[in-house]
Amino acid sequence: MTTRTRTLGTTGPQVSALGLGCMGMSALYGDADRTESVATVHAALEAGVTLLDTGDFYGMGHNELLIGEALRSAPAARRERALLSVKFGALRDPDGGWAGYDGRPAAVRNFAAYSLQRLGVDHIDVYRIARLDPDVPVEETVGAIAELVEKGYVRHIGLSEVGAETLRRAAATAPICDLQIEYSLLSRGIEAEILPAARELGIGITAYGVLSRGLISGHFGAGRQLAANDFRALSPRFQGENLRHNLDLVEALRAIAGRKGVSVAQLAVAWVLSRGEDIVPLVGARRRDRLAEALGALDVVLDEADLRAVEEAVPADAAAGDRYPAQQMAHLDSER
Ligand SMILES: NC(=O)c1ccc[n+]([C@@H]2O[C@H](COP(=O)([O-])OP(=O)(O)OC[C@H]3O[C@@H](n4cnc5c(N)ncnc54)[C@H](OP(=O)(O)O)[C@@H]3O)[C@@H](O)[C@H]2O)c1
Repeated sequence: MTTRTRTLGTTGPQVSALGLGCMGMSALYGDADRTESVATVHAALEAGVTLLDTGDFYGMGHNELLIGEALRSAPAARRERALLSVKFGALRDPDGGWAGYDGRPAAVRNFAAYSLQRLGVDHIDVYRIARLDPDVPVEETVGAIAELVEKGYVRHIGLSEVGAETLRRAAATAPICDLQIEYSLLSRGIEAEILPAARELGIGITAYGVLSRGLISGHFGAGRQLAANDFRALSPRFQGENLRHNLDLVEALRAIAGRKGVSVAQLAVAWVLSRGEDIVPLVGARRRDRLAEALGALDVVLDEADLRAVEEAVPADAAAGDRYPAQQMAHLDSER
């Protein structure tokens, strides 16, 4: 299969039009199967996916070790085309808790040293702090990554979940290739200010949660039992009345998808792809069958009538419930 390509902003690398988000292979969505996860990374590389996204705090290094293993066991030609996008900065504790963010320059260098080792690579393609550290000016954090770029340990600088003002300050410090941020039919908050600012600054978007963490994949049922360590067990959108409302939206999407002969997940991913050439959706597949389904979105063409139908089925503010629990919403510079 031929995967189309997109470029991350005006200064970033050319990447596959869909990236693979590897978070769910280690953390946050309950247990995952390691062998199947590695096979999914291999299948993605085989299908032409070049962008792999991870975070050093996904399973406290587990995700980076898993990607390192998958890269080492992949054919050399595939491995060499892989581009690694790595988030850092989230502080964890041994019982799995979250303890804030650290964007101090010395911490940036320390995080990078460990990530390079765990991934088994000599450079990281895109490096970004997962959440703005409120105690450290963004110029200092980005400046520290820029020094890593100068030394060859990092190729490009990205950002994650920041608002328009922070984007501008960061872009005035060093070239920023992309902003990683939640964007889907259920999370359209970036459309008002953040996306226009990114476009003005030549910064691309890597969109995560394009399936709203599985909620709008078409596979999520109201009766699904979630493990205590599954993010969705605490996510407002997956609770009670909110969940019922949101799953009704999925049924409206299913009707449109059915008429087009595609799956709900493919319709949802194709919608994000249709928002602009500067947007690269990350799909969070952790099984080969889910990956194959998501990649099928690349062949879905949405015409004006389709887009109107989708907009009517799921208007911009249709989702019930915030995209994060309140405590985590407070960490989002993008929501200020
Ligand atoms: N910068 C940030 O703050 C941030 C935050 C979150 C994520 N991310 C990155 O973005 C990536 C994607 O995010 P996400 O995993 O939340 O996004 P997602 O793609 O919206 O959700 C992925 C989940 O959807 C379910 N799913 C059902 N059908 C699927 C299909 N055909 N393809 C893929 N998934 C399907 C899977 O759950 P089941 O396996 O349980 O069915 C999967 O774990 C992450 O892996 C991570 O790298 C970044």
